[in-house]
Amino acid sequence: MVYYIRFLKSPRLQKQKTGSVAASALICITTDLGDAFLSQDVDLLVTLQLADNEKAVCQAKLQWRGGKRELPILLGPLPASIAQQSMIMQVTAHGSQAPSWDSLLDERNIPLVLSAWSTAFGGPQLAVADKLIERRFSVNHGIELSIWEETGNSIARHIWDAATASVMYLQQIIAGNQAPSNPVLHKLLRDERSSPLHVIELGSGCGIFGIALANLLPQCSVLLTDLPEVEEIITKNIGAAHPADSSDIRYQPLDWEAELPDNLFDSPSIDLILVSDCTYNADSLPALVSVLGRLVRLSPHAIILVALKRRHESESIFFDLMHSAGLQTLHLHRMELPSQHDQFDEIELHCYGADTRQ
Ligand SMILES: C[S@@+](CC[C@H](N)C(=O)[O-])C[C@H]1O[C@@H](n2cnc3c(N)ncnc32)[C@H](O)[C@@H]1O
Repeated sequence: MVYYIRFLKSPRLQKQKTGSVAASALICITTDLGDAFLSQDVDLLVTLQLADNEKAVCQAKLQWRGGKRELPILLGPLPASIAQQSMIMQVTAHGSQAPSWDSLLDERNIPLVLSAWSTAFGGPQLAVADKLIERRFSVNHGIELSIWEETGNSIARHIWDAATASVMYLQQIIAGNQAPSNPVLHKLLRDERSSPLHVIELGSGCGIFGIALANLLPQCSVLLTDLPEVEEIITKNIGAAHPADSSDIRYQPLDWEAELPDNLFDSPSIDLILVSDCTYNADSLPALVSVLGRLVRLSPHAIILVALKRRHESESIFFDLMHSAGLQTLHLHRMELPSQHDQFDEIELHCYGADTRQ
């Protein structure tokens, strides 16, 4: 599993006893679930940048020590002229060069530790950064993806590992270079289209999977859905997105336990249904599979792409439920994400379609 740098205390400017000003924060490095800390040593580079032009004003090297649960950051003293301005803080494990965006180009390049960018802080009011973290990814040559997530413990308002792997998977298929073999998705994503591809994502959380697809693929209309609690973060992420030519992204609440809203689609049918890391809770699986079944009854040619990291055995019920709902596996691909101590973590990407024999 990849590890995520998180702000436990948001960056802020602090007046020191000497009268000077320093930037401080408290970070940790955890799994997506936040249930384990990175247990190996990693060198970090912290950069303070001016918020308006991202010019670096101060940098420091730090080390995250395996076994620790937090790491304080203190940068300064800062020149008085700079301390008056708004700043952002970047924390990355990329080494001593200027921080660059995290690569999701292929499995060899994805970093073990994902970098964090803060919101703006400081300025004349010495404002504290918001409780948000920006992740910045290179998803294809020249295509970048910016996704905000919360610093707190919400399940929905975070990026999960399966979504990170899914973005890499889609980008490899769309780019076509040494793409994983998946005839179903190749046809859907790479064949010429006369009309837009209609995509819905269920349980989209921050929206990284669907937003990445719309950024990568022209003529692609993506509807992100989740519980109402994600609306604020997802709206922020849609605002930061750069959809490809003639592509668009919107959000609508959709609870798997409720009826499908009448106004869900503005198109006659859906081509692709995305689901990432939504199978961790066995109690919600019947409702999830029921929505998938209803969507496929409305659009019998729809392909479902389910990405998951197996977290416990009860998740296997999902596959039985999909089978009972007449949804058959068309393709399975496995990807490896880096994990600590040179280990790897497996992400499964299952493609489903309606079983035409039923
Ligand atoms: C582990 S998160 C995964 C988020 C995102 N897909 C990702 O991979 O980064 C699971 C998501 O499923 C959503 N979810 C759980 N129960 C739901 C329900 N009954 N209806 C709609 N969404 C639900 C949660 O709100 C959450 O965003």
